[in-house]
Amino acid sequence: MKVSFLDLKAEFERLRGEILPALERVCQNASFILGEEVEAFEREFADFCGTKHCVALASGTAALHLGLLALGVQPDDEVITTPNTFLATAEAISYCGADPIFVDIDPATGNLDPKLIERAITPRTRAILPVHLYGRPAHMDAIHEIAARHDIRILEDAAQAHGARYRGRRVGGLAAAAAFSFYPTKNMAAYGEGGALTTNDDQIAKYARAARSHGQTARYEHEFVGFNYRMHGFQGAVLRIKLRHLYEWTARRQEIAREYRRLLAGARLEMPLDDPRDECVYHQFVIYVSNRNAVVSQLAAREIETVVHYPKPVYLQPAYSSLGCPPRTFPQVERACERVLSLPMRPDLTAEQVAYVANAVREIVGSK
Ligand SMILES: Cc1ncc(COP(=O)(O)O)c(C=O)c1O
Repeated sequence: MKVSFLDLKAEFERLRGEILPALERVCQNASFILGEEVEAFEREFADFCGTKHCVALASGTAALHLGLLALGVQPDDEVITTPNTFLATAEAISYCGADPIFVDIDPATGNLDPKLIERAITPRTRAILPVHLYGRPAHMDAIHEIAARHDIRILEDAAQAHGARYRGRRVGGLAAAAAFSFYPTKNMAAYGEGGALTTNDDQIAKYARAARSHGQTARYEHEFVGFNYRMHGFQGAVLRIKLRHLYEWTARRQEIAREYRRLLAGARLEMPLDDPRDECVYHQFVIYVSNRNAVVSQLAAREIETVVHYPKPVYLQPAYSSLGCPPRTFPQVERACERVLSLPMRPDLTAEQVAYVANAVREIVGSK
C-alpha cells in the first residue's frame, strides 16, 4: 500500500465542483487583487478566529513581517523566538533589521520553553514571537506573564495552527496579533501563496491594511513606504471554500492522531504531549526516534513517505551563521531535530492507511 505524505491533486478533484465556479467568478469580476472574495474571506476568517480584524496578505512571511513592524520592531531591536521552526519566523525579524534571539524548546511539546525566556530579555528586547508548532498551541499564559512584566508585546506565529485552541480560545486572538500562512501544504491552504494577520487592535489592522498596499490610506495617498503584500482574488475565493471544510478536516486530523497514538503506544519512540486543556490541530503528526535514517528508509521501502520538520535548528542554518551560535547551544532543539519524523497526516487518509503506517513504524522501531 502506498501512503504519500500529501495528495493535493486528489484534494482538488474532490473540491473541483466548488472551486472552479468560484475562480470563474473572480475572472468575471476581474477582482484579481484583493476585491470582494478577499474582503468576504477576511470577515469570515476573523469570525472564525474570534478576532475583530483579519488583513489578508500575500504570504505568511509577509504577515509575520507586517505584524512585527506593527508592534514597533525596529533596526537593532531583539525579538525572542524559537529555533525549532521554518526559517521564515526568523527571516521576518531580520527583515525589520532586528536580531532573532533564540531560546530552547520544551522537549515535551516542541514549543518555546517559557522558563528560559526571561534570562534572554535585554533592554533591546521588543517582542516575543512564539510558534504554535505542528498545530500545538505554545505556552501562552506563561509567555504573557513574562511579556507583561517587561512591557514587551507578543506576535503569534500561527502559520501551522488554523483553528487550534488554547484554554478554549482560538489561536489568532491570543496576543497583540497573529500571522497565518495559507501555503499549499497548510491545514487551510490557498492555490498559491497567501497569508493573513489577525488582531483585535484597530491600530495594528489599520497599519497592516495600508502597509500591504504601498502605504496607501486612500488611492494614491501614500502615508509611508509600504510593500506589495496584497492577497490575490483567486486565493480569497479558494480560502472561503476551504474555511467551510476546515471544521471537518480538523476533526479528521484529530481522529487520525488519536488512532496513531493508540496504535503506537508502547513502541520505542516518543510523541509530543497534548495538554488536555488545549486543542492541537495536527498540522504534522511527529514522532521522535533514535535511528531516524534507518526508520525513514525502511518506511520508504514499504512505500510510506515521511518528511523531517526540521532537520536543523534555525541558528545552525548557513543563513544565520552570522549569529555565531555553535552546535550544542540549545540541546533540546538539537535533540529534537536529530530525532523528529513527520508521518503522513492529511484528512483523506483511510483507516487502513493509518493502521498500515502505524504498524510499519511499530515493527521497525520495536517495543519499549
Ligand atoms: C512556522 C511557519 N512560519 C512561517 C511560515 C511562512 O509562511 P509562508 O510560506 O506562507 O510565507 C511557515 C510556512 O511556510 C511556517 O511553517
